[in-house]
Amino acid sequence: MNVRSELPDPDNSSNFNGFGETEVATTLDALKEAVAGETGASGKYSQYAEAAEANGYSQAARLFRCASAAEQVHIKMESALVEKYDSDWERPTAEPVSVPAVDLCLIDAAKGEIFEASDMYPCFIDMAQEEGNEDAVKVFTKAKLAESVHAELYLTIYNNLDAADDDSFWLCPVCGYIEKAPAAPGVCPICGAGAKVFKEF
Ligand code: FE2
Ligand code: FE2
Ligand code: FE2
Repeated sequence: MNVRSELPDPDNSSNFNGFGETEVATTLDALKEAVAGETGASGKYSQYAEAAEANGYSQAARLFRCASAAEQVHIKMESALVEKYDSDWERPTAEPVSVPAVDLCLIDAAKGEIFEASDMYPCFIDMAQEEGNEDAVKVFTKAKLAESVHAELYLTIYNNLDAADDDSFWLCPVCGYIEKAPAAPGVCPICGAGAKVFKEF
């Protein structure tokens, strides 16, 4: 993802349309649904990481671990908002999933990320804008932008599964952005965080 002259948001970007499959009644419901989706994704990626490692696909395993941590960043941001509005809410937990072959794990993960980026989060952002909830708009926006980057990385690793390289994955712990590179990025293109914050996988 290229660094732009201003941080991307729904008002200055061309890639915030949604297919319209997702429906939600309130911003609070959207936040709870987002946490549930992110929790499922994070848990699934941990399982996929273990399977990839056990089968000798260590770069794919590193990406799954990094993306699992990225989804935890989204869970943290979104849960903090839910708990502000609903103090009785109980955080969901991840259920075990069945694990297909590693190439299909990568495709399955990419499909989930594309759904979130092109359907779920655009719907949630519209809802939050309608209700004038700027905090929720900001949180959903960071997640939405990170998800399509996750999808791109999953497909990159899928396309190069038998020709892996030594690149690391660098996680921005502020927004969940991930970059595949030999060294940490200078700046996060989603939230503007500096090189020092990135975590290496
Ligand atoms: Fe996420
Ligand atoms: Fe993601
Ligand atoms: Fe970031």
